[in-house]
Amino acid sequence: MKRMEPFYRILAIALFIHLPQTTAKRPNILIIVADDLGYGDVGCFGNSTIRTPNIDRLAREGVRLSHHIAPAALCTPSRAALMTGRYPARMGMVSNHVVRVNIFTSASSGLPSNEITIAELAKDHGYATGFVGKWHLGLHCLTRDFCHHPLKQGFDYFYGIPLTNLKDFGSEPNRAIDAKYPWVNQALAAGVITSSLFFFALWYLQVLSVRGFVIALICVSLPVYIFDWLFTNNKLINAILMRNYEVVEQPMVFTNLTQRLVNEGNAFMEQSVASERPFLLVMSWIQVHTVLYNSKKDFVGRSQHGEYGDNIEEMDWSVGEIINSLDHLGITNETFVYFTSDNGGHVEETGPGGSRHGGHNGVFRGGKGQGGSEGGIRVPTVARFPGRITPSSEVSSPTSFMDILPSLASLWGGQAPSDRLIDGRNMIPLLTGMNPNPIHDYLFHYCGNHIHAARYTDGSDVYKVHYFTYNWLPGSEGCAFMCDCSGSSVQSQNPPLLFNIATDPGERSPLDVTSSKHQRILSLIGAAVQEHRSSVEPVSSQYSISRLIPLPWLQPCCNFPKCMCRDTFWLSKE
Ligand SMILES: *[C@@H]1O[C@H](CO)[C@@H](O)[C@H](O)[C@H]1NC(C)=O
Ligand SMILES: *[C@@H]1O[C@H](CO)[C@@H](O)[C@H](O)[C@H]1NC(C)=O
Ligand SMILES: *[C@@H]1O[C@H](CO)[C@@H](O)[C@H](O)[C@H]1NC(C)=O
Repeated sequence: MKRMEPFYRILAIALFIHLPQTTAKRPNILIIVADDLGYGDVGCFGNSTIRTPNIDRLAREGVRLSHHIAPAALCTPSRAALMTGRYPARMGMVSNHVVRVNIFTSASSGLPSNEITIAELAKDHGYATGFVGKWHLGLHCLTRDFCHHPLKQGFDYFYGIPLTNLKDFGSEPNRAIDAKYPWVNQALAAGVITSSLFFFALWYLQVLSVRGFVIALICVSLPVYIFDWLFTNNKLINAILMRNYEVVEQPMVFTNLTQRLVNEGNAFMEQSVASERPFLLVMSWIQVHTVLYNSKKDFVGRSQHGEYGDNIEEMDWSVGEIINSLDHLGITNETFVYFTSDNGGHVEETGPGGSRHGGHNGVFRGGKGQGGSEGGIRVPTVARFPGRITPSSEVSSPTSFMDILPSLASLWGGQAPSDRLIDGRNMIPLLTGMNPNPIHDYLFHYCGNHIHAARYTDGSDVYKVHYFTYNWLPGSEGCAFMCDCSGSSVQSQNPPLLFNIATDPGERSPLDVTSSKHQRILSLIGAAVQEHRSSVEPVSSQYSISRLIPLPWLQPCCNFPKCMCRDTFWLSKE
C-alpha cells in the first residue's frame, strides 16, 4: 500500500494488533455529522439549486429521516446526546445562562467520563473506533488528564479539533463575541474610564494614597485586559488541531483541511479493513460552521449561493470521498451509514459585508440556538444499509439523535446499557420497515436547562406544544446573533401554543386549545414533561462559570512557549 508509512504502521500496531479479533461478521458503522447544516440546505430535502449529489446518493440508496430531531439546538449538548443516547440534562450538559457550549479549549467542562459512549460500546464488541473532525465535548478536567478527550471516551484514534470552528479563526478580524455583544468593547472601556476617574477623585480627596490609587487601577483594568486579550487571541489559543493527544497544528490552518480530514478517515478505514476488524468511524465535519473556508481550486465560486453554498458543496464532496472509499474497499454492503447535522442552520449568521453565512431550514421556523424552534432541531438525516434498508424510502415519524446508541447496540446483537436511563429507542426496525410503528411517544425540547417545547406522536399526527417562543427581530426568525433561552429573548406562552406539526410543519396555524380534544393532548404532554423532569437526577453542571473559564495550566500549546506549529503530514505526501 502506497500510504503505508511508518506512522501508519505504528498506528496499525497500536490500534489493531493487541486487540482480540472477532470472528462474527459485524457491520461497520460510519457516522457523518455536518456542523450547522440546515434542513433546507440539502438537495434531497427539497433544495433544487444547491448541489449535494453525495448526500442525495445516500438518500437514494437508503432512507430519508424527514422527522429527525437533534436533542439541542447547539453543538456541545447535541453531540453529547449523540454519543450517549441520553438527554444532555442527564449529564449536566445544559446551561442556565447565555454560554451553552464550550468556548475555551483550556476550560474544564465536557462530557463526563462516567457516561457510556457509542465508542465504548463498540469497543466492547471488538470494534476499531476512530473520530475525525470536530469534537467539542471538552478536553481536560482540572489537571492535564485529558478526561474529556475522545481517547478517554472510547475512541482508539482521534484527528481533529477539540473545540469548534469560530468566526474568529478566519483571516479577517471578526470576533464572535462582538457579533453577539457589539457593545462589549465600549462597555469595558467606559467601565475602566469611569472607575479610574472615581479612584482619581478618591485620591484627590485624600481617601486613597498614591499606592492605593495604583492598586485600585490595576485591579480594575487587569481583568478587562485579560478578557479582551483572550477574545482577541481566540485563534491562537483555541484553533487547535490534534492527532491523538498531540497538538499538531496551532493555530489551525484551513488550507487542505477538508482533504486532510478525508485522508484521515480513509486511512482509518483502510487500516481496519486490512486488519479485518469492523470499525466505528465518526466523521465530524468542521464545515458548514463559520468561519467559512473553501478549497480554492475546486470550490470557491462554484455554487449559486455564495460562500455559504460553496461550503455546502465542499462538505458534500467530502461525504462523497468517504462513501466512495467504502465502494473501493468493497465494504459498502456491510457498512451502516448515518448522516446528520448537529443542529439547524444559523439563520442570523452573516459574513464580512453582511452577506448571509448561515443555513436555511426549509419550511421550519427559527434556527440554531432556539431549542424549541423546529428550524433549530429538525435536522437533514439519511441512513443507508444495503440489503436491510429499502432504497429511496422515508421515515416520517419522529426519530432522534439519541436513537443511534440503542440502534447500534441492536445491530451488534446487544442491549443498550441498563444501569442508567437511555432516552433513545432502537430505530432499526423502523428504518428497515420491519416495524413501521412510531418509536417515540414524547420528545422534549430543551433550550439550555429549560424545556421550551415538547412533541407527542399520536398515530400519524404529531402534536408540538410551545411553552416559550422567541422574541424574533421584526421581519426575521432570529434574534441579535442568536436567541438566549431566557430573559428578553423569550416569551412565555400561557396557554401554550399547540400545532399539528405533521400536517402544519411550518407551524402557521395554532390549534384551538379550548377544544376538549386539544385540552386532553395538552394535559397528556404536560404530564409527560413532569414525569421526564422528575426522572432527571441532579448532577453537577458542566456550565458553571468555574468550569467554563480558561485555566492557564490546561492550555494546549505546541513548541512551548511559541504555541505555533504546522501539520505537514499530508502536505508532505504531495
Ligand atoms: C438552498 O440553499 C441555499 C444555501 O443555503 C440557499 O441560499 C437557498 O435559499 C436554498 N434554497 C431553498 C429553496 O431553500
Ligand atoms: C494541498 O494543497 C496544495 C495547494 O493548495 C495542493 O497542491 C495539494 O494537492 C493539496 N494536498 C492534498 C493532500 O490535498
Ligand atoms: C450489495 O447489496 C445490494 C443490495 O442488496 C446487491 O444488489 C449487491 O449485489 C450487493 N453487492 C455486493 C458486492 O455484494
